[in-house]
Order: sequence, then structure tokens, then C-alpha cells
Amino acid sequence: MYYPDEVVGEVLRSNDIVDIISPYVKLKRSGANYFGLCPFHNEKSPSFSVSREKQIFYCFGCGAGGNALTFLMKYENASFGEAMQMLADRSGITLPSVNYSEEAKKRDQKREELLSINKEAATYYFHLLRSEKGAVGMRYLLQRGLTEETMRIFGLGFANGSANDLTAHLRKKGFSDEAILESGVAAFDERSGLHDKFWNRVMFPIQDVTGRVIGFGGRVMGDAKPKYLNSPETPVFDKSRNLYGLSLARRSRAGHFILCEGYMDVIAMHQAGFSQAVASLGTSFTEGQAAVLKRYVQDVILSYDSDTAGTTAALRNMEILQKAGIGCRVLDLTPYKDPDEFIKNAGKEAFAERIRDAENAFFFKIRMKEKEYRMDDPAQRTRFYREIARALCGFADALERENYLKAIAAKYFIGEEELRKAVASYSRVGGEEVARRPRPALRSAAGEASAKKQEEAQLKNEALLLTHLAEDPEFYRLAEPYLSADDFSEGISKRAAEGLFRQLNAQEGNQPVNVSAIIASFETEEEQQAAAGLFQQKLSVRGAPGTDEDRESHRVYLDVACAVKRASIARLAESAQDETTLERIIQSRKALKALSALAK
Ligand code: UTP
Ligand code: MN
Repeated sequence: MYYPDEVVGEVLRSNDIVDIISPYVKLKRSGANYFGLCPFHNEKSPSFSVSREKQIFYCFGCGAGGNALTFLMKYENASFGEAMQMLADRSGITLPSVNYSEEAKKRDQKREELLSINKEAATYYFHLLRSEKGAVGMRYLLQRGLTEETMRIFGLGFANGSANDLTAHLRKKGFSDEAILESGVAAFDERSGLHDKFWNRVMFPIQDVTGRVIGFGGRVMGDAKPKYLNSPETPVFDKSRNLYGLSLARRSRAGHFILCEGYMDVIAMHQAGFSQAVASLGTSFTEGQAAVLKRYVQDVILSYDSDTAGTTAALRNMEILQKAGIGCRVLDLTPYKDPDEFIKNAGKEAFAERIRDAENAFFFKIRMKEKEYRMDDPAQRTRFYREIARALCGFADALERENYLKAIAAKYFIGEEELRKAVASYSRVGGEEVARRPRPALRSAAGEASAKKQEEAQLKNEALLLTHLAEDPEFYRLAEPYLSADDFSEGISKRAAEGLFRQLNAQEGNQPVNVSAIIASFETEEEQQAAAGLFQQKLSVRGAPGTDEDRESHRVYLDVACAVKRASIARLAESAQDETTLERIIQSRKALKALSALAK
């Protein structure tokens, strides 16, 4: 670890995870835990839990989990060191100078190096645009209607058309070829070696939510192809979780975001005062991006080009947004192609009006469907109504469905009662269809699948056991003589068990186990997440201490312990048949026998 365990422990102890997470996630208390909507995946009912007692969070929906540090790393896209600093600052602790482990140090240095290369490159492009060599770029951007102020806000730049100069510049600054290549601002081939990726393009730096440059888009100044060239994904550039313009848009007070297609759309809207505009990054909009947007707003207005591709994208992304529980409306830009063109021709007031009038996503969907049918043909008309009925079935909430039904009936001059019947019959037919649909043939590699299932079941048992051992000291005293960390599967499970047994053995009395500290001993976010999951598994049997039910639950967990022990013996039997292993198998069998006796 970067810091000695005691320091990490102190920092964690002096912050309460509930206080740390509360500003980000609305939490509600329920029993011993707090629950809220998970910020790491899309959901409508809360499966994100925070345990004050254990100082960990865990999402039963997506498996995200860890301690307060893990949370900050994940949410703020921070490194371990940065997360430590945030917590230390909050509680007024001065951190000692860091003492990195080799691996952690390398990973952090790599991120920092890539970020500094991006920053250096952005600065380089920025100055070039404002120099003589960048005059063509400047002319192009001015002719596109951008002010110098806007260019500065977005950090726009220019990549030289004639030389390999960025790579040379970065080398001069002391960056290694390996890092320059990995940052994506340069490419490599046999003939020319390491060379600049972007040539003769105006450059759009892409920033993460905190404003750090994580990649670039570069646009040709004419009609050449490809129009835009983008940085590849790198350890600091995750295209599925970042959005263009977000670092600015999140400070907008509009109360919604406008999601659009392109860099130029975002910039044009910001320049016209609509600083709530964001765009995906030359890739399709993702669920991850929806989850990020949801941190800031409840509503998104889609602003896609009014061509077929734009409409298809709008319909697709609407689903993603709605699944994330984000309200969605659609901007009508006709007769113009995109926001940029609209604002240039019709002006910002007209644009603001279109925002006010943005169409409800459901109406938009139906209106697009309508185009597929000929309304003067009764047969097609009927099919169109069925489509409407089908779409209405998508509203799980009866009141909402009814409201939409009335509105749609009025809009398309359909009798309400008629439509209600169609919905009822559709939902019935739909139900039968689902029931009759044949099951997909899954089991092609049956053996492999069952081995995997078995392994999963084993890990689940280990997690149940770890959770219970950490929570119930009485159970620990009961089972401990027959268990060891070696009974757990190699990897996270075993390391977590080692940490747990170490703590429990060192303890006198009934102090609660410090699960958070065990999690802190893992280095990567993934490991911490997996470790947190190990301590949040529960069977639904649980009685008050000392009751019959409680003894019953001991019995159930003793059964779980036996299962873990049995799996451990099986693993031993499969491994080398030397004398020590044999001896261990014999001992383990004895322990298993004793455990099973306890469980009776
Ligand atoms: P557009 O072609 O609509 O570009 O692509 P634009 O941003 O509106 O730019 P102008 O106004 O034509 O100059 C929309 C987005 O799709 C991605 C970019 O992110 C772009 O902003 N894209 C497009 C690429 O990544 N590569 C391409 O070749 C084209
Ligand atoms: Mn466009």
C-alpha cells in the first residue's frame, strides 16, 4: 500500500462512510443499513447499501462495493492517493509522505504520466492554434462562428500539418516513447516509427468531469475523411463513462442536460448560453453515461440531427435514459439539421423556445411510428393502434399509463375505451407469448458451465461464512478451531479470510471486526469491490442472540462451514500428493467431522 496500514486505518476511522456517501447518494435508513439508488448502475429501486457498522458500501444489484476510499475512487475517478487526501483533508489529518508499493506506484504514476502528456499536448495544440502555423485552423474556427472566448473555454487547439513536432516536443519534455504511445497522441508503425496521430486538424481536448484532459478529437478543416479522429481509450480515457462538455455543463443551473451528437453542437450551444449541453464521445451513448448524467439531473433533452440516423439514435438513447430513471424529452430542430445550424439561422431565443416546447419522449416515439403506417388504409391504421397499445403496456405504473392513454387517444382521435381494450388484450396476448416462448438452448458446453456454477457456489459459501464470522463472535469461537484461512479459495477470498482471522485472533472481548480495514488491504478498486461483497452476504435466517432461532442459524452456518471445508479438501486432494498435503487432508477431514457433529 501507499501508506502504512495504521495511517489508512486512522483516515478511515476518522470519517464515517455514511457522511462520505450522503452528499452523492440520497440514503434512507432501513434496519442496520442505509439504502439508496446505486450511482454505479441504473436502477429504479434501491439496492445500494451502506453499513455504518462495517463502514462499507455494497450494491446488491451490480456488486459495486468497498470502503469510503473505494467509493471516492470509483465516484470521483480518483486514484487511491487522491481519495486518501480527500478523506484526510476532511478530518484534518496530515498525511505522511507516501511509501508506495511497487505495483501501486507504477499504476498511479502511469495515470499521472498519461494525464500530464495529455495536458502538455493540449497546451501545445492550444498555442499552435494561436501562432502563425495555426492560422488556417483559426480561420476555420472563426468561419464556423466560434469566438476566441469560446475557443479558450473549450481549450481548442491545432495540430500541425507538416511535422512530427508534438512527439518531438513531448520527448524533449522528458516523456518516454512508451508513455507517449500509450497516451494515444502518437501512433507507431515500422516505416516511420513513433509519429503524431493528429495531422492538420483543429483539436478538441476532451475533459473528464473534473476538467482534466483525458483525450482528443481532431477535425479536418475540409471534407476529407475521417471527419473526426479520436484518441483511443487509455487507462485515463473511458469513453463509456465520460461526456464532452460535462465539466462545464455540470455547473449549469438549467436543471436538465441537453444531450446531443457532436463536439460542434456542444460548443455552439454553450456559446449561445446553453451551457447544459453535453455529447457522447464519437461512440454510442451508454448506460454508464446515463448513470453519470443522473448524478446531476433528473431530466435530459435529446437533441439529435433530424435525419434518419439522428432519429434512430434518439429512439435508442431514450430507452437507455428511461431505464436509468431519467425523464426524457426531444428537441425539434426542423427545418434545420442540428443545434449549431439552428442557432446560427434562427437565433438563441428561438432555440430557448424549442427547449420549452421539447416533445415528451413517448409522444415522439409514437409520432415516429406513425410514419411507418398509411393512415388512410384501415388495416394499417389498426396495426398502428396496436403499436400504440403495445407501447402503452410499457408503463408499469397504472396511473401513468392511463394518463398517457388519454392523451394519445385525444391526439390521434381514437376512442379511449377502444384503446383501453386494445391495451388489455395486448397485455394478455403479450403474457401468453412470453409463457409459450421456448427456452433458449443454453447448455452447449454443459460440463464447463456446471464447473463454473460449482465454483460460484463455493465462493458464495465462503462469502456467507466470512460475513457470519465477522458478525457473530460467538459463532467464530464455535467454528474457529476447525477452520483456517487455507480453507478459502486462492485469491481475494483467502486474503480476506487471513485478514479476518488475524483480527479475530488478536482480539479480546467482543470488539466489532474492522471490515473496512480488511478491504483497505487490497490495492485495486476491483479487488476492494470483490472483498466488500464477501462481507455482505446473508442467508435469511437470523434470530436474536440466544434464541432458538439463533441456534438454528448457527446450525445453518455450520453447514455452510462444512461445505467450505469439503471444497477445501477436494482442492487439496486434486493438488500435489506429497506428505504435507496428505497430512493436511487428514487433519481437514477430522475437522470436517467435528464441524458436522456441531451442525447436528
Ligand atoms: P457530426 O458529423 O455530426 O459532427 O458527428 P459535428 O460534431 O456536428 O461537427 P460538424 O458540425 O460537422 O463540424 C457527430 C459526432 O460524431 C463523432 C464526433 O464525436 C462528432 O462530434 N464523429 C463523427 C467521429 O468520431 N468521427 C467522424 O468521422 C465523424
Ligand atoms: Mn453534427
